[in-house]
Amino acid sequence: MVDEQPIIEIKDLHIRFQDREKVNHAVKGISFSVKKGETLAIVGESGSGKSVTAMAMTRLLPPPPACTLEGEIRFGEENMLEIPVQRLRDIRGKDIAYIFQEPSSSLNPYFTIGDQIAESIKMHRPEVGKRDIKDEVIRALDLVGIRDADTRYKDFPHQMSGGMKQRVMIAMALACEPKILVADEPTTALDVTIQAQIMDLMGELKTKLDMAIILITHNFGIVDGIADDIVVMYRGDVVETGETGKVLANPQHAYTQALINCIPKLGVEQERLEVIDHEALLSGNP
Ligand SMILES: Nc1ncnc2c1ncn2[C@@H]1O[C@H](COP(=O)(O)OP(=O)(O)O)[C@@H](O)[C@H]1O
Ligand SMILES: [Mg+2]
Repeated sequence: MVDEQPIIEIKDLHIRFQDREKVNHAVKGISFSVKKGETLAIVGESGSGKSVTAMAMTRLLPPPPACTLEGEIRFGEENMLEIPVQRLRDIRGKDIAYIFQEPSSSLNPYFTIGDQIAESIKMHRPEVGKRDIKDEVIRALDLVGIRDADTRYKDFPHQMSGGMKQRVMIAMALACEPKILVADEPTTALDVTIQAQIMDLMGELKTKLDMAIILITHNFGIVDGIADDIVVMYRGDVVETGETGKVLANPQHAYTQALINCIPKLGVEQERLEVIDHEALLSGNP
């Protein structure tokens, strides 16, 4: 159930990267919030600032002066931009868990998937007794639809397909019972049919578990049916927000319209897809 109270609130967030020559103002004062039990999709093209926004939530970005954060990220009583690093370590992975595009790069090839999930439970849920850890691992694997979890937990990552590895990553994130799951392009590296399966799984988890999901994607085609609300990002700005159905049916901003026109339609040739005219968008004259 979507609660009225926001679980996380981003207020006037700026992210700047500084190298020797110049400052890249990657995120330009954006604000949005996510409620308990809500799934929010952040949609925008590559480079629009989606991932850095997600990483700023637990300060997973380079420290100043390479990267500076300004604004407020309110998580409960705390401002994530001000709390000490020690406290951040408690929150990362435990309260706010991430899954990324490439599951292979996040799994250690030398350990079984069961051991890796167990490790994450030991780290974030010290209340789980030694004898109960295996049950918790199997429960997490069951939850993400891995059949025969009680034998498959002994598999090494290389014994699994890309889709299965992404399920393992989701299991690992969920095993710590996070309040917020941030899924950054979770299906981008996968085949189209597997993409649909993983999105179905996310939809199921959303109804089963009482957590907020932030789904980051460049693909408007995957948000329908899962996201309650949408934030559209364009070059470091939020250009549109609203309920998913309303945004899809009646997009207000020209950039949102262009992105929606990019949704691949069955039977339409790839080269006939709309190309976004950035010059026209920037001149406000699309
Ligand atoms: N670690 C980093 N150092 C310097 N610049 C970065 C870093 N990470 C991201 N950026 C810059 O921030 C901007 C937004 O990137 P990102 O959030 O990854 O986009 P998206 O996820 O929407 O594709 C880009 O201009 C990118 O070059
Ligand atoms: Mg990204």
